[in-house]
Amino acid sequence: MCGIVGCVLNKKAAPTIIDSIKKLEYRGYDSVGIATVTDKINVKKGSGKIDEVDSKINLKDIDGNIGIAHVRWATHGNPTTENAHPHCDCKNKISVVHNGIIENYKELYQELKNEGHVFKSETDTEVIPHLIEKYMDEGQDLLTATQSTVKRLIGSYALAIISSDEPDKIIGARNESPLIAGISENGNYLASDVPAILSETNQIIYLEDKEIIQVDKNGIKIMDLDLNPIEKEVTTITWDPEMAEKGGFDHFMIKEIYEEPQIIKDTLSEENKIKEIVKRFKNFNRICFVACGTSYHASLIGEYLIESKIGIPTEVILASEFEYFKKTLDDHTLVIFVTQSGETADTIKALKIAKKKSETLAIVNVVGSSITREADHVIYTRAGPEIGVAATKTYISQLICIYLLVAYLDENQELLDKLHSLSGLTEELLTKEKQIQTIAKKYSKAKDFFYIGRGFNYPTALEGALKLKEITYIHGEGYPAGELKHGPLALIDDNIPVVGILPPGPSYNKTYNNLQEIRARGADVIILGANNDTQISDFEDKLLFNPIIDEELAPLLYIIDLQLLAYYISIEKNIDPDKPKNLAKSVTVE
Ligand code: F6R
Repeated sequence: MCGIVGCVLNKKAAPTIIDSIKKLEYRGYDSVGIATVTDKINVKKGSGKIDEVDSKINLKDIDGNIGIAHVRWATHGNPTTENAHPHCDCKNKISVVHNGIIENYKELYQELKNEGHVFKSETDTEVIPHLIEKYMDEGQDLLTATQSTVKRLIGSYALAIISSDEPDKIIGARNESPLIAGISENGNYLASDVPAILSETNQIIYLEDKEIIQVDKNGIKIMDLDLNPIEKEVTTITWDPEMAEKGGFDHFMIKEIYEEPQIIKDTLSEENKIKEIVKRFKNFNRICFVACGTSYHASLIGEYLIESKIGIPTEVILASEFEYFKKTLDDHTLVIFVTQSGETADTIKALKIAKKKSETLAIVNVVGSSITREADHVIYTRAGPEIGVAATKTYISQLICIYLLVAYLDENQELLDKLHSLSGLTEELLTKEKQIQTIAKKYSKAKDFFYIGRGFNYPTALEGALKLKEITYIHGEGYPAGELKHGPLALIDDNIPVVGILPPGPSYNKTYNNLQEIRARGADVIILGANNDTQISDFEDKLLFNPIIDEELAPLLYIIDLQLLAYYISIEKNIDPDKPKNLAKSVTVE
């Protein structure tokens, strides 16, 4: 995930800036850069880890008491030196670092290009220094030119900007991407996250959306978009540095679960790119998903969606099994590879086989990863780096991409509208912490769990069970709700809790009856149901209510309860959920 630092010091700034940006390394990144201001802008940047780039170009060896730095997690354009931040204007008088995505950058790029601006990178960010240059050329100062610029931007941004025409300050701005300021006797700071500057100061001011900030040696000044001053409270941070990396959460996994409402919004903003990719597909009459683990479960939901909405024959194959199916591939099959890391060996091998005969699409979280270089088309999920080993937020972003893909393949406006209406529902999902903790406490000693669901929510059951296995070491099995009576019901007794996924919709009654059958055999049933479901009230304290959405959209929301349940059981069992035994974040062996 991208990170920003800016420092105004009364000594050479680069050593402090580089030490500070290194504190954001844990978030994952692929390139780094620094710019300071003296009588000119001085820039050093490169792709790779900070230490690697530093050993080649000595990032700290750069003059100036004021500077900005960035670690980039590629979104637009591959992780190259040209695409690394900071980015500058034509005259190299303005330098900008940016976190976020500028959605209207193509229009701005065209406008600036027509006016003679020359661009050096493939990034959305580069339009920003050029816009500021345009407004400064028209006579505005750096602050006003930044104000004029941010008023033209659509999308998310946290910005830090320096200019050799005004070498005494940093200007910053924020919209939907975090930005904080820090103050101390030794200097004043800007950063995207507290850990970056916590060793310099614990006196922090949080900016809100649509605010602009000026940082200089006298202090900081925060303004609204009309440059009216805003009074801000200074917060004293009491976290230790490790807690700070996790944003105050105990583990990365829970932090990443809490990011999910924002990730739903961010991934939905990829809609137009998905629409464009769909237009480029050749003719196909069959779809085949290939993936492993959690990505396989996301693919299964894709299968249910495509079969039920579009009627194109679709199958999902585990990547490690793919080589045994390759004979049926042809040039009328679209093969979709779903992978968070883009580096899973089984999935890479399957892609190499598939591309010889079929058109391929990859749905990937990590820009520039191996799979993105092999596939014919790539859709990026917008989850940011995931540090917890168990996939949580990347699953949600994979699902959003798959739903968007299906909506555009099917030209289904109703599905698109439903997806967009989710954004308003997600906040209430994370309010059940106490209730889930109570359930986790009650069942943490169980040796086995069943998870059941039907249709779209059968994969949710599989994914809930996988989360349980991975981070609690309890055996969990996901089953189609109707299948238990064909064998596994023999196992059911009062030692095995059964989690039932029961959203409203066509399969509700059948799943409800299956749960009653299980209950009649003595099992404790934990139900995930809709807020307005009165039929399930006799399941008492084992109920987790969710927003009222139809079963076809429920996989996007109900899984959050199951991620939290697994998380809190791992806490009860004193297991570190971020680093489960025997597992790796990226599985690069077959
Ligand atoms: C489960 C998990 C794994 C991965 C699987 C595929 O929490 O993380 O099951 O989903 O190893 O990894 P990617 O998606 O990187 O191909």
